[in-house]
Amino acid sequence: MLSPSASQGVWSEFYNPELRAIGARVAPRLETFLFSAVGEEAVRATPADLPNSVSDFVGAHFRASSRFWTRLIDTLTAADYLADGMRLLLIQRVPLGRSRNLAMSRVAALHPFIPVPAPSVAEEAWCAALGVRVGMHSYWQFYLPAVLAATTHIHMLARQPGTLLRLVGAALVEGAEQAGFMMAMAEGARRLGLPERAPSADTADGATRSVSSAVDAAVDEVTGTFGRTSLAEVARGAAAATLLTAQAHRDVRAQLLWLSDMPRYVAAARAINRRIDQDCPDIDRETFVEPREMCSTTHVHDDHRLVVIEEGQMVFWGNLGMSLRLDVGDMVLVPQGRLHGSTVESPVCTYHQPIIPPDWLDMLPGHVISPYASSPSLAVAWD
Ligand SMILES: [Fe+2]
Repeated sequence: MLSPSASQGVWSEFYNPELRAIGARVAPRLETFLFSAVGEEAVRATPADLPNSVSDFVGAHFRASSRFWTRLIDTLTAADYLADGMRLLLIQRVPLGRSRNLAMSRVAALHPFIPVPAPSVAEEAWCAALGVRVGMHSYWQFYLPAVLAATTHIHMLARQPGTLLRLVGAALVEGAEQAGFMMAMAEGARRLGLPERAPSADTADGATRSVSSAVDAAVDEVTGTFGRTSLAEVARGAAAATLLTAQAHRDVRAQLLWLSDMPRYVAAARAINRRIDQDCPDIDRETFVEPREMCSTTHVHDDHRLVVIEEGQMVFWGNLGMSLRLDVGDMVLVPQGRLHGSTVESPVCTYHQPIIPPDWLDMLPGHVISPYASSPSLAVAWD
């Protein structure tokens, strides 16, 4: 996933041919393992009425996606984080979307009925206006894990033998996702005074017709070439892609709610830190001592943590262009699953990361909870 410009120096080992060959052998097994639960859920979710089930999945995804992105744009507007938020959203959709489209296009070369979403001139114009480079993997550091998972699923379907029809279903969902995203982003662009986007595809009617005709064309082609029963595989691919995309929505939303409300998380960190001092001075923690310019590239944790600076300064970020400067005594709460990185700006920086028990976050809004949490009650908090 590294861009070619990163292939020099310390990254050369990443491109070592022998390691890449080992990776190529291991990847299909890992992907099959990782996505097996999603595949099983997709089989359970696929009803017997095949042509309608494809249409239903894709149509329902388009409506849900449109609602989700529209609400998110409204939330970002209310939080005064629209331009920054759209920057992160465009990174997930354009530089990473090119990778999804490339995977689908390779298969579409032999099977033209794969509905690869067309590149969008409007998206590129918005990227240019917001300072986002559109080259594939330009910002791999800012890919959110669940968005990356949905992309890897498409790569898996495009690479593995026997999954052609599931790829058709996933491609239809990807097209519906793009249509819903574009409608909401067009409204966000209008609010920011960004370049207008072209033709009528940004209207609800135009997008609905476009999604619906892509489904009809794919169903006709698959039925004519492989027979009606083959639509079950298309529906399963669509169902799996829908489940993964819904997870990606939750990840994106959580990241943006966190980023757009950073003062609240700084205040929460102070409250939690006081409780640690009073009740749990020996709480589990990791301590780091890092030299100037040491960079922790973006990553996530599977627990809730504070970052507390004891000595020196660092700049902390979770989005392109973000610079939260932390000095001695400063702190911030990093909820489970939130993407972040940091760079030391002093000769040395010593900082602590106390690991926070989940029930300590009761004092905070529901959206700090990770989208990966398995509790049903938490899942409700995300809707
Ligand atoms: Fe971290």
